[in-house]
Amino acid sequence: MNKISSTSLIGGAVVVAMAVGLYLGVAKRGLPPEGLGMGLWRKIKRKKKPLRVYMDGCFDMMHYGHCNALRQARAVGDQLVVGVVSDAEIIANKGPPVTPMHERMIMVKAVKWVDEVISDAPYAITEDFMKKLFDEYKMDYIIHGDDPCVLPDGTDAYAVAKKAGRFKQIKRTEGISSTDIVGRMLLCVRERSVSDSHNHSSLQRQFSHGHSQKFEDGGSGSRSGTRVSHFLPTSRRIVQFSNGKGPGPNAHIVYIDGAFDLFHAGHVEILRVARELGDFLLVGTHNDQTISAKRGTHRPIMNLHERSLSVLACRYVDEVIIGAPWEVSKDMVSTILWFNLLRFFFF
Ligand code: CTP
Repeated sequence: MNKISSTSLIGGAVVVAMAVGLYLGVAKRGLPPEGLGMGLWRKIKRKKKPLRVYMDGCFDMMHYGHCNALRQARAVGDQLVVGVVSDAEIIANKGPPVTPMHERMIMVKAVKWVDEVISDAPYAITEDFMKKLFDEYKMDYIIHGDDPCVLPDGTDAYAVAKKAGRFKQIKRTEGISSTDIVGRMLLCVRERSVSDSHNHSSLQRQFSHGHSQKFEDGGSGSRSGTRVSHFLPTSRRIVQFSNGKGPGPNAHIVYIDGAFDLFHAGHVEILRVARELGDFLLVGTHNDQTISAKRGTHRPIMNLHERSLSVLACRYVDEVIIGAPWEVSKDMVSTILWFNLLRFFFF
């Protein structure tokens, strides 16, 4: 009896050793084990080591263009690590940022496609920093929008990564930039003091001047500032930003509404707190006419669709009512109740 069990034990061990040997042999050559298709094999290998991608940036006055860049970068890999450039590096390379480092960190961390954030990242990818990204952070690729990122000395900030074959490009979102937002803000105050217009222009030149842009002001000459949004809201973009999931059958739905103009760290915090009150956060964004009527003719700075996309990109938000009424009407409550069981209103 003892002899039989020790023989089968040895036999079993030999079979396992052969199987492991075969597996390691084919794995080393990158080939799938016998009977396994190449597609499935690639999937298994990918599962073992997630593809990690790195995107850096200033993310000043965080807008939906930045969010769309992060969304596209995340789609390139399995995990997205974002380097937020330090205040000092931004000052040295393109002028002072409007929002300081700690606020820019809050904004980037709040985006639902971001997995990890590195603070005080350098503006340019140096040999040393790239080595750190590969060795310490286990990055596979470095990603940036398809706009040129030129250093003050005229060289490409991503030249080192491109040379190493570790650079990938995503499409920059047309019609929005930090410079454009500063222009819209300046237009808001311009009429209050025409004599200050010179100061406004120089202020605008100071901030985020990495991308030159022509400003439109409704035909009143060459003054800076615009409220003309270049954003074309398409259903595809809204779908790309959506979670695509409704609340579960017994979910506690929380509703919060607002303008969410120039989406900032305070908005992120209130959305975080609201989300903690239940299982599903529904956000109502008021339309532009309502905001103008309540807050003055120069508001909002960002239009309804732009504001809604910033809200949708936030990790605490599950769904958005685009153009929600100012007052929560009976009709609206019954719609939400139909949607699910509403437990909280949060104003
Ligand atoms: N980005 C984008 N679309 C925009 C603005 C930025 O895809 N409309 C991308 C950039 O290409 C970059 C990332 O977002 O990969 C971070 O950009 P950032 O460093 O903040 O600077 P800018 O490109 O100068 O953005 P902005 O002009 O809005 O300040």
